[in-house]
Amino acid sequence: MFNLNTYQRLLETKTLGANLALLDEAPSTNTWIARRLEDPEVEKTVAVAERQTAGRGRFGRSWASPPGVNLAFSLAWPAPEACGTPGLVTLAAGTALAEAVEEVADIKPALKYPNDLLLDGMKAGGILCELRENGGRSFVIIGVGLNVNTSLDQLPEELRGRATSIKLVTGEEASREAALAVFLNRLEAALETFAVEGADAVVEKYKKVCGMLGRAVSVKGAGDSVEGVAVDVDNKGALVLEVAPGVYHAVISGETSFVYKTGV
Ligand code: BTN
Repeated sequence: MFNLNTYQRLLETKTLGANLALLDEAPSTNTWIARRLEDPEVEKTVAVAERQTAGRGRFGRSWASPPGVNLAFSLAWPAPEACGTPGLVTLAAGTALAEAVEEVADIKPALKYPNDLLLDGMKAGGILCELRENGGRSFVIIGVGLNVNTSLDQLPEELRGRATSIKLVTGEEASREAALAVFLNRLEAALETFAVEGADAVVEKYKKVCGMLGRAVSVKGAGDSVEGVAVDVDNKGALVLEVAPGVYHAVISGETSFVYKTGV
């Protein structure tokens, strides 16, 4: 059972998460919140579902999570016009998630660009940001899935060795309520900074938790694939690869992976 009192005690935001919609089941919390953009309270609302029947991940994949042990939630951020594409919001959300996990569980996550949360090199969380318009306003729907207390037998066989949870890494149960509240505390502060100071502040913080910088990576786009060493994240939120000595290529979308070279 999600403990509302614990969550409320730890929440330090001005508005974000003041309303918590605790759902036993929803098709997808991203869809749930996107259907409520006309509600004036939507900006304060976070929808948490124990079970999603059509949970979505990036690249059209599905997102499944056993009930009662993890976090699956969404919120709608009314994006100021100057904020442009959701790319930088995605980075801000990833940073907030990494910071929250570090604070709550005392472990150091790394982000696989843009915002897969890795623990010991395995995926423990992901974020799906979607842009929606309503009444002439743009909202970024931020949907987060975080494996908090999944046990090994709850992980689908095909994901073992590639996915993990906080509990599997630390050996200790972590508080879902604390993870959510601390994430929202960090996210609200980050989005305020973004709206006032712009991209640089978001990117500088992101780079501290991005586990790809300095590593050989590949980025798979719609039809092609780029390989190189990840050297930077620019102020549009793109990952900059050095693809040949002195030749740089910025990628804003696509699926990233680490490249492991075998010895010859
Ligand atoms: C990914 O890594 O591919 C992103 C996964 C995002 C999953 C979350 S769970 C809550 C929210 N609702 C959804 O349908 N998806 C996001």
